[in-house]
Amino acid sequence: MVKNHGLAGIVVDETKISSTKNAHLIYVGYPIEEIAQASFEEVVFLLWYKHLPKQTELVAFRQDLVNKMVLPAETIRLLLYIAKEPQHPMSILRTTTSLLGTTNDVEHDEPPKILAKMLTAIAAIIRIRDNEPLMEIDPDLGVVENFLLMMTGKKPSKRLAKMFSTVMILHADHEFNASTFTARVAASTLTDYYSCLTAAVCALKGPLHGGANERVFEMLETIQQQQIDPLKYLQDQLKAKRKIMGFGHRIYKDGDPRARILKQIAAELVQTTDNQVYYQLQIKIADYMFARFNLHPNVDYYTALIYHCIGLEKETFTMIFAACRTVGWLAHIMEQRQEGSLIRPSSVYIGPTGRHYLRRVGDH
Ligand code: ACO
Repeated sequence: MVKNHGLAGIVVDETKISSTKNAHLIYVGYPIEEIAQASFEEVVFLLWYKHLPKQTELVAFRQDLVNKMVLPAETIRLLLYIAKEPQHPMSILRTTTSLLGTTNDVEHDEPPKILAKMLTAIAAIIRIRDNEPLMEIDPDLGVVENFLLMMTGKKPSKRLAKMFSTVMILHADHEFNASTFTARVAASTLTDYYSCLTAAVCALKGPLHGGANERVFEMLETIQQQQIDPLKYLQDQLKAKRKIMGFGHRIYKDGDPRARILKQIAAELVQTTDNQVYYQLQIKIADYMFARFNLHPNVDYYTALIYHCIGLEKETFTMIFAACRTVGWLAHIMEQRQEGSLIRPSSVYIGPTGRHYLRRVGDH
């Protein structure tokens, strides 16, 4: 009998990138509560190179990333075609990630260029789906401001950029989560970066992982628009053996530290965007889930409302998660390539044994 289904609690390798030991999230030694206050580019540098950049390094790193937030013309031409397809944006992103790995000179792409292209491609998918023109980068802005600009078409305020930077940092890495482990399995075969990222996007897409944020907002909308009693809604879902999206976590049984910070950001953003009704609803649902099942909100719960406040469609929420997590995926792919070996676990066979194949009369 295998006791640890889903590899729960199984240590599969070592990492210097992040840790969730004792339910405390740290990035290269820094507690998430502190490092969430840094700039996004600082955290990318930290996760990739394992130390914080000096001021001059940071300025150069930021400018290099921003300059690279440009897609080849052939990618844009194909994106204009595929992003209009009716499929879910995460399916579009899956194809796009693979597409990014097929253009000329792509074998020379290193993590800074790959991250920059992923952010620009995700923003482009959103713009194309909204029938809006693609935006160009503003070289005087940082990565987060440019990402927001290219998604929404508006230069963000300093405060919004700071809040969104924190959101991106909180999603940047999370040890051996399902999509990161998927990326590492692919990287362990020494395949290329884009192949590893495509595999990671596929794993993130599922509702038990990154796909939960979209479903959180779907729940809020359903309750609000149909004027359903929220507690009755939850009871009906649970009676039907459906999980309540945005609650529970494999590691954080006493609460997700990221959700605590995200809750504060959501509380501030709903004030300026007139979305208090959704926030109140979220508090009511969270109180019930805690009181009744001792379940806490996870990273996807308040993020859903934050993305809504920014003006994004719920179908695009998981793509934003992918944009942020590309940082961590790349860190882990690099680590796996440098320090890991082929990942090839074993299983306990529980199927039938002792069978013999006999050719049937008339078979050739
Ligand atoms: N709603 C209702 N019940 C839940 C929920 C939930 N969201 N989460 C856990 N439970 C219950 C389970 O039914 C189970 O009850 P049981 O022991 O009576 O069978 C118990 O709590 C333990 O839950 P498991 O699913 O076994 O815990 P596990 O660690 O395997 O799963 C997971 C964690 C997958 C995140 C789960 O909590 C879940 O499905 N949550 C909803 C989806 C979600 O929000 N996913 C995003 C996670 S964060 C991320 O990936 C970025």
